[in-house]
Amino acid sequence: MSFIVAATGNQHKLAEYAKLLADQDVEIKSLNDFPGYTEPEENGSTFEENAGIKAASASIYCSAPAFADDSGLEVEALDGRPGIHSSRYAATDAERIARLLGELEGKENRRARFVCVISIAFNGEVLASFEGEVKGTILTEPRGGNGFGYDPIFQPDGFDKSFAELSQDEKNRISHRARAYAKALEFVEDELSVFTDQF
Ligand code: IMP
Repeated sequence: MSFIVAATGNQHKLAEYAKLLADQDVEIKSLNDFPGYTEPEENGSTFEENAGIKAASASIYCSAPAFADDSGLEVEALDGRPGIHSSRYAATDAERIARLLGELEGKENRRARFVCVISIAFNGEVLASFEGEVKGTILTEPRGGNGFGYDPIFQPDGFDKSFAELSQDEKNRISHRARAYAKALEFVEDELSVFTDQF
C-alpha cells in the first residue's frame, strides 16, 4: 500500500484529511512523520499559490503525493483583506477580530466570504487545486464560544447565528473547508490510484 502526506502538523486538519481518505487504499502520513522538514515561505499572492507551494514542497521532501490547504477571510469593504494574511493580521484571535471590526466601523457593506483552497502535488508539481467558499456578513460584535479565528464575527448566509454559535457538525456541513474537501474527495476517488501507483 502506498501513502500520501497531509502537509500539516495541525491535528485538526490531519483528522479532516484522514476522513477524506478513509475509504481509499492509501495510508495517510503527516509532516510529523518526516523529521527535519522546513516549511516553505508562503510567499504566494493567492490562496491557491500558497496551498500549491506547501503541497509541492512537501511532495519533494517526502517523495510522495501531498495535500496542503490555505484559507482565510475576505471582506468586500476592505478590498478582500485580510485574505491570505488572515492568520498574520494581528497577534491573537481577539486582536485580529478587534482590528477587523475597527476597520469596518462606519462601513455599510459588511459582506465577506471564507475561502479554502486544497492543492494536491506530486514530484513537486501541483496536480489539482480545489476551492470552497462560504458567504456571509461580518457582525458588529463577537458572538459564541465555539470554533476558532474569526468565527465569532462571521454569520453565514441563511443562518441567524455566527460560526462560533454553530456546533462543530453544523459548521462542518457548510464551511469553506468542508466544501473544498468535498471537491478534493471526488478527485481522490477518480484519480488518486493513477499517481499513487507510480511510487
Ligand atoms: P491557515 O489556512 O491555517 O493558514 O489559516 C488561515 C487563517 O484564516 C486562520 O488562522 C484563521 O485566522 C482564518 N480562518 C481560516 N478558516 C477559518 C475558519 O473556519 N474560521 C475562522 N477563521 C478561519
